[in-house]
Amino acid sequence: MDQVEIITQSPEETEAIGAYLAEIVPPGAVLALQGELATGKTCLTRGMTRRFAGAHIVHSPTFTLVNEYGDDRRLYHIDLYRLGSEEELLTLGYEDFIETDGVCVIEWADRAPHFLPERRLDIFLEHAGGDTRRLRFENHGLLPATWEQQLTTTTEDHGVKE
Ligand SMILES: Nc1ncnc2c1ncn2[C@@H]1O[C@H](COP(=O)(O)OP(=O)(O)OP(=O)(O)O)[C@@H](O)[C@H]1O
Ligand SMILES: [Mg+2]
Repeated sequence: MDQVEIITQSPEETEAIGAYLAEIVPPGAVLALQGELATGKTCLTRGMTRRFAGAHIVHSPTFTLVNEYGDDRRLYHIDLYRLGSEEELLTLGYEDFIETDGVCVIEWADRAPHFLPERRLDIFLEHAGGDTRRLRFENHGLLPATWEQQLTTTTEDHGVKE
């Protein structure tokens, strides 16, 4: 397991990191986002969706909102905030999303720890005062060896802005 920590000072910076991540994650990637309310999980995801054309929204038949983006290359954005129990996931066709070539971003992933694949990118988000957020990325066999350098270099070079 290798990890990188990045501090952002604005929503735009967090979005820019998401946009960059979207370019380096492989097909079938699962990104497990964890962090308290308003730490920037959706913001990071929004940055990613900018790299997937043809956004449209798919409402799941039950309770969880699944946003689906992209045509050729898909991103599934799943929010488990309202998940009552892990068992509820079984009724949702959850596997349909995580076992595809699409990229799957899961907010509140800690609500379903047993359903996360071993091979994934964990992203922990924390408040660090005002508009500062601390983002910690933990790679569990998903990204190629150069990812730490790529991510930190990009954010330093561009001030994580585009
Ligand atoms: N550095 C930053 N990165 C991301 N968001 C920031 C930052 N600074 C301030 N914000 C603000 O924090 C809020 C983050 O909201 P967002 O919906 O992304 O959080 P979330 O983690 O998805 O919350 P929830 O758990 O409710 O889904 C936004 O209002 C955003 O403008
Ligand atoms: Mg959110």
